[in-house]
Amino acid sequence: MPRPQKRGLFISFEGPECAGKTTQIAMLGESLAKMGLAPVVTREPGGTVIGEELRKIVKHHVGESAVVDEAELLIFAASRAQHVKKLIAPALDNGQIVVCDRYADSTTAYQGYGRGISLDFILALNRFATCGLEPDITFILDLSAEESYERGQRRQETLFVEDRIESAEIGFHRKVRNGFLKIAEENPGRVQLLSAMDAPESIHENIFKMVKKCLLPS
Ligand SMILES: Nc1ncnc2c1ncn2[C@@H]1O[C@H](COP(=O)(O)OP(=O)(O)O)[C@@H](O)[C@H]1O
Ligand SMILES: [Mg+2]
Repeated sequence: MPRPQKRGLFISFEGPECAGKTTQIAMLGESLAKMGLAPVVTREPGGTVIGEELRKIVKHHVGESAVVDEAELLIFAASRAQHVKKLIAPALDNGQIVVCDRYADSTTAYQGYGRGISLDFILALNRFATCGLEPDITFILDLSAEESYERGQRRQETLFVEDRIESAEIGFHRKVRNGFLKIAEENPGRVQLLSAMDAPESIHENIFKMVKKCLLPS
């Protein structure tokens, strides 16, 4: 379906759990706000009323009632379709900057590379769910499965929330990380790969520099 000409800037953040996506999004939001350009910050799954309901279903049902891989893929896609049409596309059409915590690349990495569902099918499903809307720039924060686990252990001490995907085995998270690396390799024009091991301030400096370049093309 044709969409109106997009005028805003669409930025997505990707990477494993605890790579620092939320941290970096908050820092970017603050820096943009200082320029008078406060972004629309949103997340997947979620971002809309339906999306947030779907998020609860997919993340917190464990054991017997846990979603099967195929349903998981379709729930993420359903949440994304709702998100694009109800929130992301209208904000971009309105000239706003949209910053999204996870987007279609997460589906490719987790359900494709991680769970082993056909990458061709996921590519087609992502196109369908997004109506072909791709981020202008994607930051993938790269972190080893081991470091992601370590940071998660530290964070869980303060949060006490059980998350089905976060607590999957380390082998799964290694496949997901390699998936993100592959995505970065295959999309050099859109994706910026950054080490999540650098200090948060230094990562932010890099990100902000690149975002400013997109805002003020020379
Ligand atoms: N660059 C970094 N180096 C070390 N620790 C970090 C860094 N960025 C974030 N953290 C810490 O890692 C944990 C997860 O960060 P968070 O931003 O919530 O990650 P995500 O949103 O990717 O899951 C937090 O405790 C945070 O303070
Ligand atoms: Mg987060």
